[in-house]
Amino acid sequence: MSVFPTRRLRRLRSSQTLRDMLTEVRLSRHQLIAPLFVREGQGVKMEIPSMMGHYQHSVDTALDVVRRWSDKGLRAVLLFGIPDTKDAVGSIAWDGDAATQRLASEIKAGIPDMLVITDVCLCEYTGHGHCGTLYTRPDGQVDVDNDATLESLARTAVSHAQAGADIVSPSAAMDGQVAAIRTGLDEAGFQSTAIMSYSVKFASNLYGPFRDMVGSVPQSGDRRSYQMDFRSVRQSILEAQSDIDEGADIIMVKPAATYLDVIADVRRRFNVPLAAYHVSGEFAMIKAASQAGWLDERGAVTEITMAIKRAGADLIITYFAEQLAEWLDE
Ligand code: PBG
Repeated sequence: MSVFPTRRLRRLRSSQTLRDMLTEVRLSRHQLIAPLFVREGQGVKMEIPSMMGHYQHSVDTALDVVRRWSDKGLRAVLLFGIPDTKDAVGSIAWDGDAATQRLASEIKAGIPDMLVITDVCLCEYTGHGHCGTLYTRPDGQVDVDNDATLESLARTAVSHAQAGADIVSPSAAMDGQVAAIRTGLDEAGFQSTAIMSYSVKFASNLYGPFRDMVGSVPQSGDRRSYQMDFRSVRQSILEAQSDIDEGADIIMVKPAATYLDVIADVRRRFNVPLAAYHVSGEFAMIKAASQAGWLDERGAVTEITMAIKRAGADLIITYFAEQLAEWLDE
């Protein structure tokens, strides 16, 4: 027997007011994190075509951007550094005078309410483009040396904390990276510096534009011996659990819009705050289609960002943060 005409689902969709009242998912600019890329130099603002609207900035021009974002109501930035010189271990990553550290301290000095989160990884700083120090395994394969890399990551995180970072965010996908960083921070007196770990990070084909931006394409091989295989989704649970046990304050799933199932699953199982990273390739797809006139950008971006929120993310790292800050009404 049909419930129609008693049940009419369209009744509750009949006015804007009703639709607004019944909204189950809210997205606020306070939940967004805006990535920002900083390099050496003065007055630099270099656009990277695959990341339309995003630039390599020097510290001075980056600071102007952070001021503008702050005026628009954004509350958090995620900093990535692009060094002038690279070496085998990525030692500029923990140089206290490098661009990331200088920008972090200038933001905290000039715009103290802006939350400074720093990406802790070595791929931007190593000549070979991998996320740590290389070694040759007993079977002859060249691979990233997990435990040697932990020390570099901890040093990098401590140097970011010394520069004023509120949260450090390890993305190297090394086992034990959260524990190593927590120990390093605590020993240096930074008990209150939080860790947002890229816990569930897939070896994705959607990081291409980011690697154009920071110049971190591996010279040989790929990242599949450390980042997760996108066909093996159950490992997400162990990755997230391990990071929480090691002391992660916030965990992350990355990419986001193509991994909504993973976000929802991690959300259900764990009670720590969850971030999701809407990555560069996901950004570029929407941007390109909008530029071609094939998608309405505002509509598409709002819908997809809401979908990430609806799946269970508390925080969203997005290259659309500035536009969303203009579009959202909260
Ligand atoms: C590693 C890192 C990457 C991204 C964030 N941190 C690249 C990678 O793992 O190869 C990708 C982010 C994006 O595509 O937007 N430092």
